[in-house]
Amino acid sequence: MSLTTGDFRSKVTTQTLYDKKARHEKITCLTAYDYSSARLVDEAGIDIVLVGDSLAMTMLGHENTMAVTMDEMLHHVKAVHRGTKHAFLVADMPYASYHVDTTSALLNAARFLKEGGAEAVKLEGGEKRAELVARMRDAEIPVMGHIGLTPQSVHMMGGYKVQGKSLAAVEKLVQDAIALDSAGVCCLFLEGIPREVAAMITAEVSTPTIGIGAGPECDGQVLVFHDILNLTFAPPAKFVRRYADVSSVITDAVKAFKEDVKSGSYPSDEESYHLPKDTQAALETIAARKRAMGKIHGD
Ligand code: KIV
Repeated sequence: MSLTTGDFRSKVTTQTLYDKKARHEKITCLTAYDYSSARLVDEAGIDIVLVGDSLAMTMLGHENTMAVTMDEMLHHVKAVHRGTKHAFLVADMPYASYHVDTTSALLNAARFLKEGGAEAVKLEGGEKRAELVARMRDAEIPVMGHIGLTPQSVHMMGGYKVQGKSLAAVEKLVQDAIALDSAGVCCLFLEGIPREVAAMITAEVSTPTIGIGAGPECDGQVLVFHDILNLTFAPPAKFVRRYADVSSVITDAVKAFKEDVKSGSYPSDEESYHLPKDTQAALETIAARKRAMGKIHGD
C-alpha cells in the first residue's frame, strides 16, 4: 500500500457531510475541472469536489456560465472522476439541462451518475425546484441545491448582485432553503448573501450548507480552484482569498523555457537520449569506411 495521506482517508459520502454538520466540523469544497486538478484537490483532503459550471468561464473562456452544454460538462466530470478517490464528487447541471421538463432533467442528471461517475448533481433555484429534487431522489439521484446569487439567473438578476438584502428577500431565501431541505437536498450551496441570512438558514435546515460569499457561519465553504490560485485573469470578488499566485509561477516558467530554447541551453546533453555504445561504434565504423572509400575514389 502506498503511504500517501489519501490512502488513509475514508470515502466521503452524504452521511459524512451530515455527520460533520452535527459535529460542527467544517466541510471543505473546491471546484475541479480536469484530472490533474481533481488529483491535487482530492489528495489535499478536500471533502467535496464540485465540477462547477463555472468551468464555462475558467476553462472555456465564456463570459458567463450560460453557454456550457451537457456534453461539455460530462467530458469534464469524467476526467475529474478519474482523479478523485476520496472526495464526494458533484456535477453541476448546466443551464437548460433541467429547465425544460422533468423527464429531460432526470435523464440529464442520470447521465452524470451513469456515464460521468458523479455521486450527486447540483442545480440552481429555490422552492420552484423542490418537486424536481424529490423526483430526482425517487430516481436515486442525490441532489444539492444552490440559492442566493445563482449565476444561471444572471439576466433575471440584472448582473451578479448580492441577494437577500431586503426583508422580503430574506423571507424568500429562508422559504427557498426550507422547501429544498424538505424536498431532500443533501447539501445547500448559499452564494452571495449576507452572512446573517446564511447563519439563519444554516441554523434552520437539517441539510449541510456550503457558503461562497455567504460568511463564516455556513457548515462549509466552497471556492473556485482558479480563484484561489489567481488563474482567472480578472480582479477577485470580495469573498475570494488568494492562496497562491500560480499565474506568475506559470508565466515565469514559460518565459524561462522560451529563453532556454532560444539560447540553445535547452535541451542539454543530459536531457537528450543517446545511442547504445555498440550502435554508436558501428555507425562510426560505417562513417570511417565511407570517408576511406571517398579518398580512394578521389571525392
Ligand atoms: O459553478 C460553480 O463553480 C459553483 C460554485 C462556485 C458554487 O456553482
